[in-house]
Amino acid sequence: MRIAIVNLKGGTGKTVTAVHLAAALADQGRTLLVDADPQGSALSWSEEAERLPFAIVGLPVRDLQRRLNDLLPGLMHAVVDTPPGDRAIVRSAIAATGIILVPIPPSIIDLDRLGPTLDLIAEVDATSRTQSFVLLTRVRAATRSARLTREILADMGVSLLEAQIPLRESLATSFGTIPSGDNPYRVVLDELMTKELAA
Ligand SMILES: Nc1ncnc2c1ncn2[C@@H]1O[C@H](COP(=O)(O)OP(=O)(O)OP(=O)(O)O)[C@@H](O)[C@H]1O
Ligand SMILES: [Mg+2]
Repeated sequence: MRIAIVNLKGGTGKTVTAVHLAAALADQGRTLLVDADPQGSALSWSEEAERLPFAIVGLPVRDLQRRLNDLLPGLMHAVVDTPPGDRAIVRSAIAATGIILVPIPPSIIDLDRLGPTLDLIAEVDATSRTQSFVLLTRVRAATRSARLTREILADMGVSLLEAQIPLRESLATSFGTIPSGDNPYRVVLDELMTKELAA
């Protein structure tokens, strides 16, 4: 399985999602996390954590498709963490993977900024087939924001995962730690696998 974590807006939870999803995938087979963000947040995370359960490389490049094909023999899974704002890198990550996960907190400002990301995915989809899903992150318990966001996204015709990630102190402070495979992203992975099998 190859998954790109994409949102052109900054601070939506891409890196936290990439690292925890890679840890969940690593329970199932050899997994590579590609840090395609020139800021190198996932790489810094791995320096702090030292022994993550997956391999990690920094590749902030615009030809990820070719490079990932070179790297993938021997690996079962790859997750690509992408930067905000750099359309060329994000485009190549989308083309290189095929499964696109767009993390977004349930807030109006994040919804308002989603358009360019969806447009870019649609652009790539016109030439190479992709499956893309929006994932709600930082969802506050017992509030209406997630339900309202789901309604708005449904009206926009967006594919939204049923799984969602709660706002959690343990995730907010997880930078530099070693996530277990059994983290809140496990249910995200289960749902993605069901969708991939169904495609
Ligand atoms: N489920 C969560 N609960 C609480 N805090 C979270 C959660 N997910 C992410 N965060 C926090 O939200 C902030 C943004 O997360 P993250 O760095 O993953 O976003 P990003 O999209 O990778 O940002 P950038 O666009 O700058 O690369 C971080 O401070 C992170 O710790
Ligand atoms: Mg990031």
